[in-house]
Amino acid sequence: MDKFIINGGHQLSGKVHISGAKNAAVAIIPAAILSDGVCRIENIPNISDVSELIRILYELGADIKMITDSIIEINCSHIASHVVPLEMTRRIRASSYLMGAMLGRFNKAKVAPPGGCDFGVRPIDQHIKGFEALGARATIETGMVNLSADRLIGSHIYLDVVSVGATINIMLAAVKAKGLTVIENAAREPHIVDLANFLNSMGADIRGAGTDVIKIRGVSSLGGTTYSIIPDQIEAGTYMAAVAGAGGDVIIDGVIPKHLESITAKLIEAGVTVEDLGDAVRVISNGHLTRCNVKTMPHPGFPTDMQPQFTTLLAAADGTSMVTEGVWDARFRYVDQLTLMGAQIQVDGKVAVIEGVDRLKGAPVQATDLRAGAAMVIAGLMASGTTEISEIQHIERGYENLIEKLTAIGADIRRVTVAPTDTSVSKAQ
Ligand code: EPZ
Repeated sequence: MDKFIINGGHQLSGKVHISGAKNAAVAIIPAAILSDGVCRIENIPNISDVSELIRILYELGADIKMITDSIIEINCSHIASHVVPLEMTRRIRASSYLMGAMLGRFNKAKVAPPGGCDFGVRPIDQHIKGFEALGARATIETGMVNLSADRLIGSHIYLDVVSVGATINIMLAAVKAKGLTVIENAAREPHIVDLANFLNSMGADIRGAGTDVIKIRGVSSLGGTTYSIIPDQIEAGTYMAAVAGAGGDVIIDGVIPKHLESITAKLIEAGVTVEDLGDAVRVISNGHLTRCNVKTMPHPGFPTDMQPQFTTLLAAADGTSMVTEGVWDARFRYVDQLTLMGAQIQVDGKVAVIEGVDRLKGAPVQATDLRAGAAMVIAGLMASGTTEISEIQHIERGYENLIEKLTAIGADIRRVTVAPTDTSVSKAQ
């Protein structure tokens, strides 16, 4: 029942440090199942999607040591079962990576289908196509995905759609298969490269990650490692958008500017100044943005995970903008919430036409999913008056210490707990 309360209209200034990448962490943690040794993983983001995954590994029998908030040691050598039931997986999308990791380790896996953000149908046909190409039989029985192989054998796999999840799952399954696996039309996101680097640090032989052809030569075993996760491209982009919309001058620290190129290019087009400081970016904005068009695409295109945040900026930009969603079928559901704040947006399928208004107005709104929730936070920072955001558990799946980080750069945002029977705010933190 917790909510965020934001009093908008404050310019942001100072420095914000970016955490480890969620979408890398949720691939790398299950990948530890493939190791015979201890995996020390650093720069882990402290978010609920990650703690859910760690809990799943613990319940499966892994030894887990939290060394600090952001460093963990995982030893999966005692995991004996290849079965991951629904009550463990329903809350996160990334549980699908347990399929590839379990299959790669045991030659079999029985995993409940994943949960996670709801923005239309989220098929896994390309994951299954990859597993079958490696020699696994796949069936769905009583709601569980059942995979089994006598032995996984390397194969040539062409993905019909560029899929982050399928690329990662095939890498996990193929890393200890016999012979060479080639994934063509592979996804190129930074977290794919991070997973490949993690697996290679354990002794894998993966080449080409970051291009659309990935070659995996199977090895017989993987050892322990120490590895640090890359910074979160989307968390960084979200703070860049927050500064762009609210106005101010903020250094966004601990990032890889190359990963932010498409976001930076669009912010500059909208009238924002972005300086590359090597391992940080400085964002300067007077809060008055110019219209532009955006189309989301797989990396290195503009990321779909920044689409709601950017649409929110354009809702109060000068002129008419068009945002086209090129990855998901139904990622504009949050637009109804922005409309409650005075935005003028028409959605037709995968296209949103946005008539910029002078200013958004604070209102009670919902976080309908993770990035939509981040967009509501940005809208609240930009708006006049007070914005109250409910369903914030979606936001906490992917943003570490959001309140602390935003407060430190001058935002007026707090979290409150509302008693279930009482609609008024009862306790402020
Ligand atoms: C990953 O989801 C991310 N999640 C998503 O981020 C992100 O939006 C998405 O990639 C695209 O960048 C994680 O990394 C945990 P896909 P994933 O497979 O892997 C179609 C966030 O906000 N498709 O690349 O599930 C699919 O329908 C989250 O952090 C098939 O048709 O996405 C979609 O249209 C939300 N068949 C497109 O491909 C398949 O077998 C891309 O999906 C698989 C996917």
